[in-house]
Amino acid sequence: MTEANLTLHGMVAIVTGAGSSGPGVGTGKAISILLARRGAKVVLVDKFQERAQETLDAIQSEGGEATIVTADLAQIPECQRIVDETVKAYGGVDILINNAAMSASVSLLDTTPELYQQMVAVNLTAPFMLSKAAIPEMIKRGRGSVIFVTSIAALRGNAGGRGAAAYAASKAGMHGLMTDIAAVYGPQGIRVNCVAPGMINTPMRAGVMAKTGLDVEKLNKQLALRTALQIEGTAWDIAKAVAFLVGPDGSYITGVLLPVDAGVTQLMG
Ligand SMILES: NC(=O)c1ccc[n+]([C@@H]2O[C@H](COP(=O)([O-])OP(=O)(O)OC[C@H]3O[C@@H](n4cnc5c(N)ncnc54)[C@H](O)[C@@H]3O)[C@@H](O)[C@H]2O)c1
Repeated sequence: MTEANLTLHGMVAIVTGAGSSGPGVGTGKAISILLARRGAKVVLVDKFQERAQETLDAIQSEGGEATIVTADLAQIPECQRIVDETVKAYGGVDILINNAAMSASVSLLDTTPELYQQMVAVNLTAPFMLSKAAIPEMIKRGRGSVIFVTSIAALRGNAGGRGAAAYAASKAGMHGLMTDIAAVYGPQGIRVNCVAPGMINTPMRAGVMAKTGLDVEKLNKQLALRTALQIEGTAWDIAKAVAFLVGPDGSYITGVLLPVDAGVTQLMG
């Protein structure tokens, strides 16, 4: 690691869903590792301590700095506690990455009120409450960057698929939240952006696909061919976009929804 790469030196970042839900690397894990490589101190938030621990081990093995806050984001008071523990550990907050999510391929008609409420609690209410807790800390520092990891599922319908109505609705809600807070807190030096992953091969997606009973490897190849670049996305592709947006190279960018999807949203019908 060279000094020139340490673009986030002195920054404190909170990453939610910093573990991976299965073997391999999820986006929260990749984002946490990359921000730590760039010099940030990273607070790893996950519902499962052991998942966050794997990310912590990876960061520490490279000489980076991080700590774990175990929390279930479905519980509203946990959002303020995460920020309080971050301030206690590292003295402030500069970066908030709202990455944790639950997902389910369930059509509108099959969605129970309970599933809808759980999805909105984790995917939208928690990012809302975490932003509400973290932005005052950023205002104290005179700078800050918030990222909402959304999904192209909120931009495109799922024609031919089973649908994911509650998931899409919760992710679209993040876009509205981003637009409002980017405008309101911009004058205080806070930048707010959305990164919308396309079809990324992560443990979460593997779990959803496994439930279909189809050949996952074949499905992955078919999905890759549905992108303009015809390649498979990994969690590192999302992490690189996030690190760019929160770092100095993204200093004039706010209120943007960036699809990271190998051209699916803009180019594929
Ligand atoms: N994989 C894709 O193709 C894809 C596509 C679009 C968007 N995304 C988005 O990327 C993000 C990460 O997805 P991933 O595929 O890396 O997931 P992942 O399942 O590998 O990791 C998610 C992590 O979040 C944690 N988490 C889940 N619910 C939580 C809760 N209530 N409280 C605290 N932690 C919780 C899990 O324990 C897990 O460690 C999500 O926002 C997802 O919607 C992924």
